[in-house]
Amino acid sequence: MQRVEAQITRLIQECDYDEVTHLFAMLQGGKRLRAKLILKIASKHKDAPLLAAIVELIHAASLLHDDVIDEAMTRRGEASINATDGSKTAVMLGDILYSKAFTELVAFDKEVAQTIASSVTALSKGEMMDVKMAENFNSDEQRYLDMLYLKTATLIEAAAKASAILAGKDADKHALYGRNLGLSFQIIDDILDITADEKTLGKPAMNDYVEGKCTLPYIYLYEKLNNEDKEKLISLHAKKPTVEELHWMQAKMQEHKTIEKSFQLAQKLSNEAKQAMHEDESLVNILETMIKRSY
Ligand code: IPE
Ligand code: IPE
Ligand code: MG
Ligand code: MG
Ligand code: MG
Repeated sequence: MQRVEAQITRLIQECDYDEVTHLFAMLQGGKRLRAKLILKIASKHKDAPLLAAIVELIHAASLLHDDVIDEAMTRRGEASINATDGSKTAVMLGDILYSKAFTELVAFDKEVAQTIASSVTALSKGEMMDVKMAENFNSDEQRYLDMLYLKTATLIEAAAKASAILAGKDADKHALYGRNLGLSFQIIDDILDITADEKTLGKPAMNDYVEGKCTLPYIYLYEKLNNEDKEKLISLHAKKPTVEELHWMQAKMQEHKTIEKSFQLAQKLSNEAKQAMHEDESLVNILETMIKRSY
């Protein structure tokens, strides 16, 4: 990972603008899940740290834009860039990180470069869909999962696949692993929004439904409620709830075990990924650490 950090520092310095160096330093590093994945899969390849650095720049850019889109004031335990320096700055810094990442990708094998670059189109489509879907209450599970795949899983899938190509390993198998890891990762992120506090999360808690996001625990809750309660749930969509309303939703989720049901899907997806990679202990470990994060 030290080599990845060194590559990230080099790429940022090459942008050759003090303001960029300064702003980027304000972003904490995060968990570096995607970089770790690439290093594990292509551990012996000399360009793995560079590929990992590129993917982390892309991920950081997506978070900068995501916090503008979501109007989120915290990120990685600190004030977000849009909170401290405004949305314009956050968007422009995101653009610089995206384009620097693409410039560096050009030096890679065409299939590797295409895999990563096209996942950014998918991610951006997913973000757009996420915003569009938040305009109305959504109870369609498959529609939600299709959006999650684009928004979160495609970049992780691409990271796994591209590093497998680099290492001469089975690309399809690693893509499946990355896809399922990404899906269960986002489902757990959605669960944590409900079960964890802001301090643990490093970003606002219980915020998804206020933002209009009908995540799985809400979709499963809707399925279970009687008609009157269904109407009540819909009436609370995309609004700041009172303390009583918040407790009502939490109690109903508990009663109908909708967090558990969401977690079971995350676990199922994660088990499929495990099966694809059962011979690779370190990749299985990444999955297990990720799943454990939720409780
Ligand atoms: C946050 O990703 C955005 C989601 C896809 C849920 P991470 O949870 O990997 O963010 P960092 O990099 O560790 O901050
Ligand atoms: C994930 O969506 C963001 C990206 C994949 C870019 P969220 O909006 O759920 O991410 P958080 O919760 O803000 O990290
Ligand atoms: Mg967000
Ligand atoms: Mg978002
Ligand atoms: Mg989230």
